[in-house]
Amino acid sequence: MVTDILETAEEQLGTNAHEGHHDAEAAQVADAAHDHVWVHTLTWNEYEHGGLHVFDHAEGSTIWDVNGKAYLDGIAGLWVVNAGHGRAEIAEAMGRQAARLGYANAMNYTSTPTALLGEKLAALTPGDLNRVFFSSGGSEAVETALKIAKQVQAMRGFARRYKVIGRRGSYHGQTMGALSLTHAKNEHWFGPFMYGVSHVPHPDRYRSDFGLEGEAADVMAAKFVEQEIVAQGPDTVAAVIAEPISIAAGVHVPSKVYWQMLREITQKHGVLLIADEVINGFGRTGTMFAIEQYGIVPDIMTLAKGITSGYAPLAATVVSDSVYEVFQQQPSIPMGHLLTFGGHPVSCAASLKNIEIFEQEDLVKRGAETGAYLKSQLDELRSHPSVGDVRGTGMVYGLDLVTNKETRAKIAKDGAFSKRMNELMMERGLITRLWDILHLAPPLVITRDEVDRMVAIVDESLTIAERENASDFTA
Ligand SMILES: Cc1ncc(COP(=O)(O)O)c(C=O)c1O
Repeated sequence: MVTDILETAEEQLGTNAHEGHHDAEAAQVADAAHDHVWVHTLTWNEYEHGGLHVFDHAEGSTIWDVNGKAYLDGIAGLWVVNAGHGRAEIAEAMGRQAARLGYANAMNYTSTPTALLGEKLAALTPGDLNRVFFSSGGSEAVETALKIAKQVQAMRGFARRYKVIGRRGSYHGQTMGALSLTHAKNEHWFGPFMYGVSHVPHPDRYRSDFGLEGEAADVMAAKFVEQEIVAQGPDTVAAVIAEPISIAAGVHVPSKVYWQMLREITQKHGVLLIADEVINGFGRTGTMFAIEQYGIVPDIMTLAKGITSGYAPLAATVVSDSVYEVFQQQPSIPMGHLLTFGGHPVSCAASLKNIEIFEQEDLVKRGAETGAYLKSQLDELRSHPSVGDVRGTGMVYGLDLVTNKETRAKIAKDGAFSKRMNELMMERGLITRLWDILHLAPPLVITRDEVDRMVAIVDESLTIAERENASDFTA
């Protein structure tokens, strides 16, 4: 049984290796996708005008579409494939686990790989973050964190502490609780949202809400968190949630003092601090977890994406001993939360193998080193009229694209320049994400040659798109 499954997996891996499909087959797959797959954010215009891409196989930092065209994966899927594509060892570990135990009831029981992964995550995460609630994706990990924060506050005797403070511009997911914390949430379609959510300014040094420069902007942003807690009434606030290094909000790396202040402020007011490491975690920012760079331990941490490098859906909400303690002190009360696929054995086996690869290949260090090289190359692009700033750390960067370097006015998110850039980069074989920020976050295993190719494509695309849209740029 086990060998059959492994053989099948190997056969599939064999055929995966860089073989395109015949034209007729490729067309059939593309038609099936066009007619039946709801690609999450694709508009019908994009379906109809060349925006639909069907990917078929991948290796390292390269991904091939169904027609056999190769692309550099400049954003590691969606900040996911940290260990790189085509890791047969992970596929094999999953096959072995599926054959041994494919699923175990997550409501009342757990399984061997889930137990071992819980222990591993407790060892890897900082301080006393020792208890892991598993789920399947980042939004679920955030929902779980919110519910834990609320229930723990209530069990500690503060039933009125239900409010949650997030930050403007942040992204925490799309399920209703996580969406309520996400800043751009399409109120006109999905409102009203979870009651009791408010947003404070971001630690953004490039366009500070306070007109401040450098660390002073971060200090003021942290003070705002305290002001908001006080304004809401500290006895009504359950938690503050933030990404240590914000990604969707524009790739901002705050100074150490910001997170140290957040830790002090939340502790002082009895508010739980949630660090959302869904993107930040697993080596993306140059350390295993970004919060390590700030020398503090949050009460709750959310993990997903790089936890399996995308080989299987998995997420985790890791809480400190002092948070879990309340369930030990009131031992007949369970957490009011259950997700059928939480801690799926096959996903946990994928994660264990993924972490083993991280350790064997020193991937965090390797990613940080190649990332520093990527940063040095991206800095060269500052000579472009549209490149206002280059930010990031580790292997996660953003080019802040502007129409005027002095005013720092952003390019239009869906404007002609940004659309053309996306087109030019895809034509040249580079996948990135561009709204007003051009995101670059390839797998940690990317080589320097691939970095050079990636930056050359961005450079050339910027030159062409700037020339074609010259009237957009005023300084
Ligand atoms: C910081 C952060 N939190 C949560 C999520 C939601 O994760 P998912 O899309 O896996 O639900 C994301 C997704 O990009 C994210 O960036």
